[in-house]
Amino acid sequence: MSDPVRDAFDRPLASLRLSVTDRCNLRCRYCMPEDEYVWLPRASILTFEELDRLVRVFSRLGVRKVRLTGGEPLLRHDLPALVRLVARIPQIEDLAMTTNGLLLAQQAAALRAAGLQRVTVSLDTLRPERMLAFAKSARHGDVLAGIRAARDAGFEQVKLNSVVIRGFNDDELGELLEFGRTEGAELRFIEYMDVGGATHWSLDQVVSQRDMLATLTRRYGPIAPVAGDGRAPAERFRLPDGTTFGIIASVTAPFCRTCDRSRVTADGTWFLCLYAGQGVDLRAPLRGGVGDEELAALIRATWQGRTDRGAEERLGVVDRGALYRIESLRADPHREMHTRGG
Ligand code: GTP
Ligand code: 5AD
Ligand code: SF4
Repeated sequence: MSDPVRDAFDRPLASLRLSVTDRCNLRCRYCMPEDEYVWLPRASILTFEELDRLVRVFSRLGVRKVRLTGGEPLLRHDLPALVRLVARIPQIEDLAMTTNGLLLAQQAAALRAAGLQRVTVSLDTLRPERMLAFAKSARHGDVLAGIRAARDAGFEQVKLNSVVIRGFNDDELGELLEFGRTEGAELRFIEYMDVGGATHWSLDQVVSQRDMLATLTRRYGPIAPVAGDGRAPAERFRLPDGTTFGIIASVTAPFCRTCDRSRVTADGTWFLCLYAGQGVDLRAPLRGGVGDEELAALIRATWQGRTDRGAEERLGVVDRGALYRIESLRADPHREMHTRGG
């Protein structure tokens, strides 16, 4: 296999996030707080065959990890069929999915059988009434059932993502960790990010990695860092009793320097950074009859010119507020977190 293509800062093209739909069946306040959204036109959504072809081209240029995201990826009809296609690509060593868990109980076994290796489920609270207030859904039980089904389906790894927000769930860190330990799933606490979609973001709602560690130290005693493979995004830690967990400090300690990830939206727009204002249209060449070589050349040249370090740049913004206002998200839904995949 040839060496991966490298960007302007020597970061390899290695990890691809495929958003398979921009739709979601939750309305989490940090991602989709509005009542109405502008959706990508149906005809623009890439078929599984188109996605398979794209991943094959990306894999020739270095991609080894694929993560299926959304919106909510399980809203895409027959997702196991896509998993089967991608799992067959020889260079892809790691195939994972991030889901809100609502539909996971029905689909976990089929996804595992199709070749999905790892699953991450979003779980921000253990209290149904908080989920109702925060994500406008009374289906907390379905999420818990999804997590159990994932464990029973025998995935190589099940992780839980909690976005920590001051005044909402920052009093639940210990309970979430203990829940994860009982379920055999590692918790990752995520700093609340000012990405598109988070139109109500403000710095005072962010609970920093440092504050999270202080809270957990008060409760459990000294916390030790776990030596990692140096790969973003989570830094891992261990409690005195051996429980491990991760923190993704995208706001206070961004990992741009080692960022090897990019993302393709459901309509085939390729973003080199979570914060990038503009993406590269891959759908037009894909549907325009361009060959794989030409598509590969476009991807290679684009990645070689990559200088994005969005989260680090945001660190330097004085009076930092939400990245986008709602009007600007409506004007271009590609700016939404639920469109480009969390
Ligand atoms: P693995 O490490 O492969 O298990 O996956 P992951 O952690 O990349 O996947 P996940 O979808 O669970 O992402 C976790 C969180 O990391 C997201 O919720 C984001 O907050 C953050 N994140 C993911 N991708 C990016 C990115 O490209 N840039 C930044 N700054 N943060 C990201
Ligand atoms: N800040 C941090 N994480 C976010 N996610 C969505 N929006 C935000 C935000 N504003 C996370 C979800 C999910 C992952 C895909 O992205 O919690 O775990
Ligand atoms: Fe990568 Fe951009 Fe996220 Fe930084 S902000 S880690 S460069 S995607």
